Amino acid sequence: MGKKTEFLYLNEEDTIKAGVLDTARCMDVEEEIFKLLSLGDYVMGGDKHNSHGIALKFPAESEFPNMPLDGPDRRYMAMPAYVGGRFNVAGEKWYGSNIINPKRGLPRSILMVMLNNADTCEPIALMAGNLISSVRTGSVPGVAARHLAKKGAETCTCIGAGPVGKACFEAIRIGCGTLKTVVIYDIIREKAEAFAAAIEKEYGLSAYAADDLEQAVRAADIISVAASSVVPVNLQNDWLKKGSLIMFTGRCNIDEAYFGSAKLIWDNAKMHEVYYDEHLLLPEDQRFKNGIGVQIYRMVYEGKLPPVPEQTSLGDVILGTRPGREDDDERICFITGGMPVWDVGWGYEIYENAKKLGLGQTLKLWDSPYLA
Ligand SMILES: NC(=O)c1ccc[n+]([C@@H]2O[C@H](COP(=O)([O-])OP(=O)(O)OC[C@H]3O[C@@H](n4cnc5c(N)ncnc54)[C@H](O)[C@@H]3O)[C@@H](O)[C@H]2O)c1
Repeated sequence: MGKKTEFLYLNEEDTIKAGVLDTARCMDVEEEIFKLLSLGDYVMGGDKHNSHGIALKFPAESEFPNMPLDGPDRRYMAMPAYVGGRFNVAGEKWYGSNIINPKRGLPRSILMVMLNNADTCEPIALMAGNLISSVRTGSVPGVAARHLAKKGAETCTCIGAGPVGKACFEAIRIGCGTLKTVVIYDIIREKAEAFAAAIEKEYGLSAYAADDLEQAVRAADIISVAASSVVPVNLQNDWLKKGSLIMFTGRCNIDEAYFGSAKLIWDNAKMHEVYYDEHLLLPEDQRFKNGIGVQIYRMVYEGKLPPVPEQTSLGDVILGTRPGREDDDERICFITGGMPVWDVGWGYEIYENAKKLGLGQTLKLWDSPYLA
């Protein structure tokens, strides 16, 4: 007789009851994981154990009538990770993205998180992942703001008023703690206005929609870029004021002069080294076109910046092994490409909370495995 295996299924409502929207707690969990990343107590996919994940992309044309075709933000993505320390759990985020979905009453991307016993490989939880993913994504710049924003930063500009931009703002507000004014820029002005109105109502901060990108950036001590990647955000060096912190969660370009004088800090330089290496495998004319850090990868390739592995990750700053902000005038750029360690670590916290609260549905994999 083999071993019975059961796991917990958590739908979106269960994850809410288990605290998935608690951004402040997510930031604390991520702070722990940032330290594990710099200590090396984690594994992600690929030969170098640092892959963001593997993408399933459809062809531009197909002879098969049912096969989906390529398009903006159209992909499936498998993102596996092991997170060490007290977590000691393996898992994966699996999602698909289709920009037509909102017209069908669905989110653009639909995500699930699976957790496994790292030793036996048995599933321990299958969970609705949209909120795990959006809160974990927003919380990263929140942790970065806590460590890298200048003291007393008062003005935050959010570029992109979609779900990720909103999640980033929520965490930056907590991480910074001294914000007074929020400026929103979105190519769809009504979205910026609605977001500004919601911030004023919910937090009592002054908030407004900017007329243009330059005005929005010039105003800010902290800039969060989370616009969709279809139209890249292009900024100029002299728009970014002394002491500013800019955080790329979505794609953004700044003219090269900026990177000659600003300090660059990654979420995890080891993952960006893998991205960089993957670009080198592409034909020359296709390199450094898509991705959040591509402008910087290109500058590294052209010898204008030091190799990616020599650069600083936020975990190094949190551990105190490398300098973060050294003075109030310094300009800092933080880049986050997203990693499955966040989904697995934050998912694990939600799973643990759900168990304590008796939430979810226990599903049986088998009473005794047929093939054992
Ligand atoms: N780094 C990470 O961990 C991570 C994780 C998830 C998503 N993302 C990225 O975050 C971005 C935003 O995701 P989302 O789900 O909120 O997308 P979304 O498409 O729902 O919303 C994005 C918003 O940006 C606006 N926008 C588009 N181009 C713009 C521009 N040039 N200037 C200003 N506003 C612009 C759109 O009008 C929209 O309101 C995407 O690029 C996504 O790939 C990053």
